[in-house]
Amino acid sequence: MTAPIKPINLFEYETLAAKHLSQMALDYYASGAWDEITLRDNRAAFERYKLCPRMLVDVSRRDLSTTILGQSLQMPILIAPMAFQCLAHPEGEIATAKAAAKLGTVMVLSTLATKSLEEVALASKQTEQEASSIENRFWFQLYVHRDRGLTKALVERADEAGYRALCLTVDAPVLGRRERDRRNQFALPAGMELANLVTLTDLEIPYNPGESGLFTYFLEQLNPALTWKDLDWLQSISHLPLVVKGILRGDDAVRAVEHGARAVIVSNHGGRQLDGARASIDALSEVVASVGDKAEILVDGGIRRGTDILKALALGAKAVLLGRPVLWGLAVGGEAGVGHVLELLQDELDIAMALSGCAKLQDVDPSLVVRL
Ligand code: FNR
Repeated sequence: MTAPIKPINLFEYETLAAKHLSQMALDYYASGAWDEITLRDNRAAFERYKLCPRMLVDVSRRDLSTTILGQSLQMPILIAPMAFQCLAHPEGEIATAKAAAKLGTVMVLSTLATKSLEEVALASKQTEQEASSIENRFWFQLYVHRDRGLTKALVERADEAGYRALCLTVDAPVLGRRERDRRNQFALPAGMELANLVTLTDLEIPYNPGESGLFTYFLEQLNPALTWKDLDWLQSISHLPLVVKGILRGDDAVRAVEHGARAVIVSNHGGRQLDGARASIDALSEVVASVGDKAEILVDGGIRRGTDILKALALGAKAVLLGRPVLWGLAVGGEAGVGHVLELLQDELDIAMALSGCAKLQDVDPSLVVRL
């Protein structure tokens, strides 16, 4: 009997994951908005940046650890918030949280999770305790609903459960048109629910003939009137550090910081919102130059290789967030799959750093990268 072939990179995980997912789940995870131009460009953009490695540096001892918002991380790779992870694996967000905790990094839990924020926090804490750590490396991603009371209750629960930051997603006043979901009339399978919201209200993803149920949910439930002053409101109800996710311009990043953001995530939502928006790696330098050292800058979108991370760090990001590959790992192997995806990327970054003459993250500087 031949042993099953274990993926050796994130692309192989993607291929394998397709065999484990229903067509509706695969399309929901993989798709981008409209013509998926931004989705493709998030990847293509990385090829426009070239590395300028430094030689004959002692790289015999390497260290990938860092701090974000004063929290210690074993690697500069966080897990991006992604909804509906039970579509990939029965343990869903709990498996992802355990993998992140074991490897000493942050998982950002989506408002639209299929496991409750309390369950996820508990699983994460228990895993950390087993590894003799008490960092509570988990953040909560917030979608602001029209119902202020509901939004406030979510924030208070996240605070209570030990979440270490509030990650406000600002690029989704309405949902981007993902045509594969529309064609599939995306809905959650029976028995799967909006675990953070069912206890507060009877909200669910509606079945809407001819439409993506998630699109309809956003239209009906999320607040499209959100503006910068709502960041002030959020800070009046929570002392958690605020992270603003979904920024693609320097002036917006400055505004976010003026309104109290401690970190900004340069992101186009993995190409799922405004198609034709610039690749996030292309927006990074502008944001870094505008914000300076007033906030920490993170980036996501299309990160698939250690060299992508090295380029992002050289362009001024403190860390990156990983999206879809986490779901591929989850679909293939639950917690172990997510852990392996993270380890593969960590290992690639380690090698890329060694080959570039960097022993630690502080050695990665702007001279390491040029844009063609
Ligand atoms: C997302 N993303 C997302 N973002 C967010 O703020 N809240 C959410 O609930 C979700 N849900 C979600 C579901 C799925 C299936 C995907 C693929 C993405 C966006 C996510 O946080 C991140 O910005 C991108 O996924 C990063 O791009 P890559 O790594 O997937 O290319």
